[in-house]
Amino acid sequence: MSFNKQELTQTTTFADQKRKTVEIAEFTEDGRYKRKIRSFVLRTGRLSEFQKNAMNQHWHFYGLEHQIQPFNFQTIYGNDNPVILEIGFGMGHSLVEMAHQNPHFNYLGIEVHTPGVGACIANAVEKEVKNLRVICHDATEILRDCIPDNSLTGLQLFFPDPWHKAKHHKRRIVQTPFVAKISQKLVQGGFIHMATDWENYAEHMLDILRQANELENTSITNDYIPRPESRPLTKFEQRGHRLGHGVWDLYFTKK
Ligand SMILES: C[S@@+](CC[C@H](N)C(=O)[O-])C[C@H]1O[C@@H](n2cnc3c(N)ncnc32)[C@H](O)[C@@H]1O
Repeated sequence: MSFNKQELTQTTTFADQKRKTVEIAEFTEDGRYKRKIRSFVLRTGRLSEFQKNAMNQHWHFYGLEHQIQPFNFQTIYGNDNPVILEIGFGMGHSLVEMAHQNPHFNYLGIEVHTPGVGACIANAVEKEVKNLRVICHDATEILRDCIPDNSLTGLQLFFPDPWHKAKHHKRRIVQTPFVAKISQKLVQGGFIHMATDWENYAEHMLDILRQANELENTSITNDYIPRPESRPLTKFEQRGHRLGHGVWDLYFTKK
C-alpha cells in the first residue's frame, strides 16, 4: 500500500488504514472468501495519538510492506550485517532493546497489532535505533512471500499466543510446516529461539522442533536452556514471574 499524505483525510490516516491490511484475501476457485486458520486475533484496541503519530511520521524509515518478491536486505539496511527476525513483538520493548544493544545486527520485526507497531516505532525513534525495520502483516505470509531462502541469522518467537484450549491448538503458530519454512529461511548455523510461559506450549514446541531433522537442539539436557541474558526481560515476563509462572526457552540451530 502506498502512502500518499494528500489522500488522507484528517480522521483516517495511514496508521488507521494499516489496521485493515494485515493479510492478503484469498478466494476459492468459485470466488468464495477462503477462511484461514489464524494464529492471531485482530484486537480492536485503541491506537493512541502517540502511536498513530509515530507510524504516520516514521513509517517511511521503519516500515516495510508485504510484497510478492523477496526483500533485498542489503538495500533495506544499507549494509550486509546479519538479519534477525522476530515474530509477534507485541509492544516491541525487547526488540528495540536488542536492536539498540546489538548495532552490528539488523532486526526485522513482524506484528499484526497496530498499536504495538506504533509503540515500537516510537520507542525506536526515541532510542535513535537505525538497525530495525517493522512489518504490520501476518508473519506466515511474510515468510512465504518476502523472506529470501538462507537469509536469516536468527528467528525469535517470544511468548507467542498459547491458545490454551485443545480445540484451539491448531491456531498455535508453531506447527511442523511453520518450522520447516523458518529452517528454509535460515542460513547454515542460524538459530531459532523460542520462549513461552505456558508449559503445555513449551512441550508442543519441543516436539515440533525435535522432529525437524535439519535442526539441532543446543540444550545440554536435550530439552530447554536456561534463560539467556541476551533476551531482555519484558513487562509481560516480569508479571509472569510475580504470578509464579515458569518460563521455558528453546534454542535450536540449523545444521
Ligand atoms: C502474547 S503476545 C507476546 C508479545 C511479545 N512477544 C511479548 O513477549 O510481550 C503474541 C503477539 O504475537 C502477535 N501475532 C500472533 N500471530 C501473528 C502472526 N501470524 N503475525 C504477526 N504477529 C502475530 C500477536 O498480535 C501478539 O501481539
